[in-house]
Amino acid sequence: MKKKLSDLRLDYQKGILERSHLANDPITHFSTWFDQALSDEAVDEANGMVLSTVGTDQKPSSRVVLLKGISDQGFIFYTNYLSRKGGELQENPNAALNFWWCAQQRQVRIEGHVEKIAAEQSDAYFLSRPRGSQLGAIASPQSQPIPDRAYLIERLQQIENEMMGKTTLKRPEHWGGYQLIPDLVEFWQGGSSRLHDRFRYVRSGGDWIIERLAP
Ligand SMILES: Cc1cc2nc3c(=O)[nH]c(=O)nc-3n(C[C@H](O)[C@H](O)[C@H](O)COP(=O)(O)O)c2cc1C
Repeated sequence: MKKKLSDLRLDYQKGILERSHLANDPITHFSTWFDQALSDEAVDEANGMVLSTVGTDQKPSSRVVLLKGISDQGFIFYTNYLSRKGGELQENPNAALNFWWCAQQRQVRIEGHVEKIAAEQSDAYFLSRPRGSQLGAIASPQSQPIPDRAYLIERLQQIENEMMGKTTLKRPEHWGGYQLIPDLVEFWQGGSSRLHDRFRYVRSGGDWIIERLAP
């Protein structure tokens, strides 16, 4: 039987979040939650996150990317610098991330600006990827219109032939990492009767101000 959207309802009861649970800085608290998501078998792809950017037309756009590193400064992901998101980040480095770990009834919202990571760090990550992913990154003109799937397969084949015999592949310049450096991070834990717990960290000079928000 088809479910009515208006009847879909889940009472969140997986946990509560208290001020005393929080670290002084949001990256430390994020790391705790992230480790819990990673070790929870009910969470697939805990590192999947929605990245939102804003184009020169001032319109936001979102897509999923994978978190591939956490530094003292922020959140690292890899992509094609010439993609739509790459172009938008070039024009406007302000961006937002969103994690939704459904099994844990937890959301994390992150806002800040991105910077490209050092070329050597992108090189090292590119080298660590399986050869197929490396070839895909070289071959795919991400976000560009292409005639059909066959075009992509032919392009991949062509690159594979060109690279035959090369044991290591060089990272193409158009592909690499960004780090999102946060100035706002919010942790949300679903609560019963919609009394969710929300704590927001806002950067203030070298410190973070932490406030509880109404759900
Ligand atoms: C689970 C998942 C993980 C993804 N991870 C990445 C990623 O790490 N980097 C990336 O460039 N695209 C990734 N994608 C593809 C993006 O969502 C998107 O299609 C692509 O980056 C092009 O976006 P753009 O045209 O807005 O630049 C992922 C998609 C999904 C569904």
